[in-house]
Amino acid sequence: MRKQTDLDHGRRGTVQPLGLNVVAGGAGFIGSHLCRALLDRGESVLCLDNLQTARPSNLRALEGQPRFRFLRHDISQPVPADLLRMGPRITRVWNLACPASPPLYQRDPEHTMMTNVVGTNNLLRLAEAAKARFLLTSTSEVYGDPEIHPQAEDYRGHVSCTGPRACYDEGKRAAEALAFDYARARRAEVRVARIFNTYGPNMDPGDGRVVSNLICQALRGDELTVYGDGSQTRSFCYVSDMVAGLMALMEADFDGMEPVNLGNPVEMTVSELLDHVVALTGTRAPVVHRSLPVDDPRRRRPDISRAAELLGWTPRVPLSEGLKATCAWFAAELAAEPAAAGIAG
Ligand SMILES: NC(=O)c1ccc[n+]([C@@H]2O[C@H](COP(=O)([O-])OP(=O)(O)OC[C@H]3O[C@@H](n4cnc5c(N)ncnc54)[C@H](O)[C@@H]3O)[C@@H](O)[C@H]2O)c1
Repeated sequence: MRKQTDLDHGRRGTVQPLGLNVVAGGAGFIGSHLCRALLDRGESVLCLDNLQTARPSNLRALEGQPRFRFLRHDISQPVPADLLRMGPRITRVWNLACPASPPLYQRDPEHTMMTNVVGTNNLLRLAEAAKARFLLTSTSEVYGDPEIHPQAEDYRGHVSCTGPRACYDEGKRAAEALAFDYARARRAEVRVARIFNTYGPNMDPGDGRVVSNLICQALRGDELTVYGDGSQTRSFCYVSDMVAGLMALMEADFDGMEPVNLGNPVEMTVSELLDHVVALTGTRAPVVHRSLPVDDPRRRRPDISRAAELLGWTPRVPLSEGLKATCAWFAAELAAEPAAAGIAG
């Protein structure tokens, strides 16, 4: 049994508002935007990332920034001693480290589970030692294939613990359990965000998520892949809204003993998303239907009442605007691809 610290959730202000942010997974899609937003706010960032699903250009864009440091580290391994020694300077620990795309997190399911469980525990211990506040990026996948709609935080979910998505879904559920155990024992102040589908610039064109898949296929003139008949629904949140929500949650003045859904409640079918992408890109490529992945959720829409009430947060960027910006970003990325391949080769 570990000794409890004297960190007191009731004592607001024990955690310094500005200081060193440890951002695990900071070279990934959402993490790179978060690092940028923290730096823009005048804070310092130490990014921990094993570069498993990071885009090198996300990291390159951050490395030139003052007050940014990068440490290549796998969070499933013990926190390096150097980092533990920096404890007193660390005020916030953000855990975004985990592949979010199903094909990528299923590639090495054991590692995904260890990242979520052992990695989260390692970062919680760091937060405990540093008396820093800790935020976990959990997921709407903790609701599994939901039986109630929309999904509110008190819904306990309908998750398979035996299927190919379990390494992620159950890993995140265990990570949440750990975070709340630390909070209950007053070992660390925690915040748990349940993130719903998020999209925007800095996504990896090849990571297999529906928005990036469809946009990249359309821009390349490739066949457009729809899994199932396209009637399954999703709700898509633009990344700047997500980062604003995460930052508001981290700083929110509450005991942190409840998870908070963050996402855009505007729900649409995958076919409707496809129509938007076709209209934006003007592609005439054919649509091909493939079978639905195992345990794919049929419906997804967050109930964000808790976020609205606690944080005063609601998403602002409409899909039309967010998709336009994302298409423009992917177009520039894909245009640079042959040159990059040439350099690499
Ligand atoms: N993007 C979404 O729609 C979405 C939805 C729900 C939850 N989330 C959660 O948000 C977080 C960020 O997602 P994202 O979309 O930016 O994913 P991403 O794959 O783009 O980024 C994850 C980052 O974590 C790093 N990483 C993975 N395992 C690691 C490990 N063991 N040690 C250190 N670094 C590791 C990767 O290299 C990558 O840079 C994840 O925890 C994910 O589960 C994202």
